[in-house]
Amino acid sequence: MFLINFYRMDQLQAKQRIDILTSELENYNNSYYNKSISLITDFEFDVLLLELQGLEKQYPQYAHIDSPTQRVGGDIQKDFTTVKHKYRMLSLGNTYSKEDLQDFDSRVRKEIDTSIEYVCELKYDGLAIGVRYQNGIMTQAVTRGDGSQGDDVTANVKTIRSIPLKLKEGDYPADFEIRGEIIMTLNGFAEFNKKRKKIGKQEFANPRNAASGSIKMLDSKEVAKRPLDAYLYYVVGDDLNLSNHYQSLEKAAEWGFKVSDTSRKVNSVEEIFEYINYWDKARNDLDFEIDGIVIKVNNFVQQKQLGFTAKSPRWAISYKFKAEQVVAELLSIDYQVGRTGAVTPVANLSPIQLAGTTVKRASLHNADIIKSLDLHFGDFVKVEKGGEIIPKIIGVELSKRKTNSKEVNFITHCPECNSELVREEGEAAFYCPNVYQCPPQIKGNIEHFVGRKMTDINMGEATVAALFDKKFVRNVADLYDLKGSDLIKLEGFKHKSVTNLLESIESSKSTPFERLLFALGIRFVGETVAKKLAQHFENIDMIKSATSMELLMVDDIGERIAESLIEYFANPINLEIIKRLQDRGLQFEIQKNSESFPDLLQGQSFVVSGKFTVSRDEIKQIISNFGGKVISAISSKTDYVLAGDKMGPAKLKKAEKLEINIISEDDFYKLINI
Ligand code: IVH
Repeated sequence: MFLINFYRMDQLQAKQRIDILTSELENYNNSYYNKSISLITDFEFDVLLLELQGLEKQYPQYAHIDSPTQRVGGDIQKDFTTVKHKYRMLSLGNTYSKEDLQDFDSRVRKEIDTSIEYVCELKYDGLAIGVRYQNGIMTQAVTRGDGSQGDDVTANVKTIRSIPLKLKEGDYPADFEIRGEIIMTLNGFAEFNKKRKKIGKQEFANPRNAASGSIKMLDSKEVAKRPLDAYLYYVVGDDLNLSNHYQSLEKAAEWGFKVSDTSRKVNSVEEIFEYINYWDKARNDLDFEIDGIVIKVNNFVQQKQLGFTAKSPRWAISYKFKAEQVVAELLSIDYQVGRTGAVTPVANLSPIQLAGTTVKRASLHNADIIKSLDLHFGDFVKVEKGGEIIPKIIGVELSKRKTNSKEVNFITHCPECNSELVREEGEAAFYCPNVYQCPPQIKGNIEHFVGRKMTDINMGEATVAALFDKKFVRNVADLYDLKGSDLIKLEGFKHKSVTNLLESIESSKSTPFERLLFALGIRFVGETVAKKLAQHFENIDMIKSATSMELLMVDDIGERIAESLIEYFANPINLEIIKRLQDRGLQFEIQKNSESFPDLLQGQSFVVSGKFTVSRDEIKQIISNFGGKVISAISSKTDYVLAGDKMGPAKLKKAEKLEINIISEDDFYKLINI
């Protein structure tokens, strides 16, 4: 205590230090995010940021409104507040051809008798956002929602470095809103997905989903780690004091917003088309995705004259690019067997360039699609890239079909275990029925069982495969018989990783019943259904013995699910697995006493380090009461490091290096609202 007081700054010193740190960090940020130059290392940056955070907490009166500490996120929210838009957030009418655009131009010219100037812009493929500034300070950011009202995601938007918290000196209106698109760059997306894959999390299908999934997270600290960016394209307000859209974009750039320099003023449909044709090709060189071009009447008086329809402005329209198609040769077909036994055909193609990437594989979805395409080996197929990462085959160039080429017939037997495939009525997919012996189904089932939302055992795809290959596991119950002497034989496993894994398996024994039920991987029993079943029946024996009628009485349970449950519990292999899990101590009934705690920490892992106002065991108990998990070692999978007094410096450094949220005991209580 004496030492702390001795070093305590006086108020003036604190203010000066806060000012210096704020401006230095802002300078580093600016150089990094706008000029791609790192002036200091990440670690040095974090040390300065931590110092600033500490000072701001102690002297909140001196914290700058645009402090760089806001960029790292703050408290976790329970839910987003719904906010009514001051100006409705409309969408745009779509066009797909030159004729459609000519019609738009004619409609505009019919209404306006003075000369028309249009602004052509890129149509960013992301998530629309409206950000309000009052006296130059960001005060609120809201998603589009249903156009009339959206979610208040201010805390998350504040973490996006390219959206200013405070505007540069200038003639901005006292109160206005700027709209734009939150995106993830292609590079950022690739890196981000790579990281997710490495830690066993599901990858996002495309940058748009990744951007919108990120902005809708309740933990802004997590949002801060996502590579989000934004382009702004529309200034809205009552007293803008501006005469046209192009000028508003120039002004927005002056005030500090990221505005693309690709917008162009044009005067005719021909020029619009030149712009479209240019970007239809050049879009492949951009580091973000666009799905078309937006054309806006430039003059604000003319815009006002044209007005709005119920859904969109009459002064703007979008032109959507046709999905790019290329032709490739069909070399062969792979059949992939998933966790549920569903067999998915994937085509191997001669390598082709499509939308800026080399494509060698395309999805064929199911047997019906192969049939309707009348596919033959060696065919030249038309491939298109839709919204998803894997392109799809949409047709065959029959003129190029080789004579005597062999028709593609869907396989009749499982490529993994040779069982005869079955197809249930009304289902598009063929299934391998050999649930208990077919390798990808066994591995898939175990991967599902150990998943984060299930038993949360710290084990990735590679470890499951290794355990299977070494014949250590054949079903989920085998996980609980694993021994250290077995695990040490796995490649890359050392004493510490073995201990961590065994510890993780041990702590999975306290998985709440509803999650365990979900973990079993019963067909059609997802997270919500499992919860409903657990709440209704309270233990596994009641579910086991429930009749179809009794099952159908439960909310959300239809015939398909009831049938699947009856079938599952009629199988002695499943009953044996459940029995073994029960014998090993897993919970197959609702824990009445833990019911009173909300699941606020579900799926979150904590490393607890240092001294607290209560004992470490108490802290650990609280974490587990609220659905969280305590682990001993920091890894990239750790969500929080709960740092008490005298936390070890090595742990602190590791947590910072892995960008893990470090929270104090106070922050922790806030997290769980106590
Ligand atoms: S202007 C009232 N400009 O496209 C007009 N929108 O389908 C407001 N978008 O909701 C929109 N790039 O999310 C505008 N340069 C751009 C755009 C753009 C992408 C999105 C936006 C909008 C949707 C309309």
